[in-house]
Amino acid sequence: MTTIVNNRVEVMHGVNLDQLGRRDPAHYGSLDLGALERRIDQWAHELGLSVRFFQSNHEGEFVEHLHELRDMADAVVLNPGAWTHYSYAIHDALELTGLPAVEVHLSAVDQREEWRRVSVIRDLCLATVSGRGADGYRQALELLKEELS
Ligand code: DQA
Repeated sequence: MTTIVNNRVEVMHGVNLDQLGRRDPAHYGSLDLGALERRIDQWAHELGLSVRFFQSNHEGEFVEHLHELRDMADAVVLNPGAWTHYSYAIHDALELTGLPAVEVHLSAVDQREEWRRVSVIRDLCLATVSGRGADGYRQALELLKEELS
């Protein structure tokens, strides 16, 4: 008998997220990316989801990874970092995946500089979670768990 799984979540981190731990803790907390990903992995496990991680500082690599997702994942959690605010290339590549997506920001982007209040991917996402630090990823996973069941 074949079991159809529908629980694969790709967690994608964009530009400068590899520098977590060195960035302003008032906005981004003190976890480095490895520690954040271990926490996300634990939450996913508790929810019965299977997560894979990707990070790049190169927009083209990020776009190409989105191109490959269609057959590799059932849903996406993405924090594209500063690309969020202007990358129509990432918008279009996310649209191509056709996958349910949740946008996450560690910091409260809506309460920071004017330019951070814009998200060019928001219209493609089921939800945007911001200002909740690492816990925002747990909320994103819960929303996707609900969506996939
Ligand atoms: C961020 C917010 C962005 O404005 C910023 O450029 C980042 C991280 C966040 O997680 O709060 O790099 O996406």
